[in-house]
Amino acid sequence: MQTPGKWTAPKLRALKGRQKIVTLTAYDCSTARLMDEVGIHVILVGDSLGMTVLGYETTLPVTMENMLHHAAAVSRGVTNALVVADMPFLSYQVSISQAVENAGRFIKEAGAGAVKIEGGSIRVDTIRALVENGIPVMGHIGLTPQSVHAFGGYKVQGRSADAAERLLADAKAIEQAGVFALVLEGIPADLAGRITAVVGVPTIGIGAGVACDGQVLVVNDMLGMFSEFTPKFVKRYAQLDETMRKAFQEYKDDVQQGRFPGPEHSY
Ligand code: KIV
Repeated sequence: MQTPGKWTAPKLRALKGRQKIVTLTAYDCSTARLMDEVGIHVILVGDSLGMTVLGYETTLPVTMENMLHHAAAVSRGVTNALVVADMPFLSYQVSISQAVENAGRFIKEAGAGAVKIEGGSIRVDTIRALVENGIPVMGHIGLTPQSVHAFGGYKVQGRSADAAERLLADAKAIEQAGVFALVLEGIPADLAGRITAVVGVPTIGIGAGVACDGQVLVVNDMLGMFSEFTPKFVKRYAQLDETMRKAFQEYKDDVQQGRFPGPEHSY
């Protein structure tokens, strides 16, 4: 039974023009539960998992089994948010039947309410097949990280007039194919505004400016869980790297000095 406050793909689609859609990534149950408690609309189990949790340099090595494991953990922590599972590289590109089968596993085995796939016009048939089989799809165009090698790095997309027109056409094509929402990543803010104005589904921006219908951030970025590099589009809402390092250091000192456990922690 669904709770009355549960966010579904159709309910989120209907928010366009009425309320900004707030999305964060999560990869584990306890983090997802906290997000759900504050009313985050969409929790995306992103394949950014590859970098944030698994220590890879790109999202490309992430497997279906990795994603299912973490999507199921997130779903167990969530009551109201829509859990969207990111389909990993080569889980939906090889054939439509494989895409349907893999997307179905996120719904059946991991409790997700939708899947996300990267790509524009080239994905139209896949999106249509998923939607016709009852699987809501979030699109993702612009700087799509699974194409990092084709792009020659993580570079802002859609800067030239031609590239901008192609992204506009991509957005319209996948809207027609049936996506309920669309991530716009790493594109100029004015182009994101143009796309947002011409499509009837919500756009969720990351590095795409304020005109989008919603925003998404990677949780590790926004919590400041690493210090090496902060991309321009990230706002750090906490400095957890400092907090965690301090806690680990204090714990180490306490154990080594015999201050922990104290009598209050002992049976
Ligand atoms: O994998 C991910 O976290 C994503 C978001 C950045 C949109 O795709």
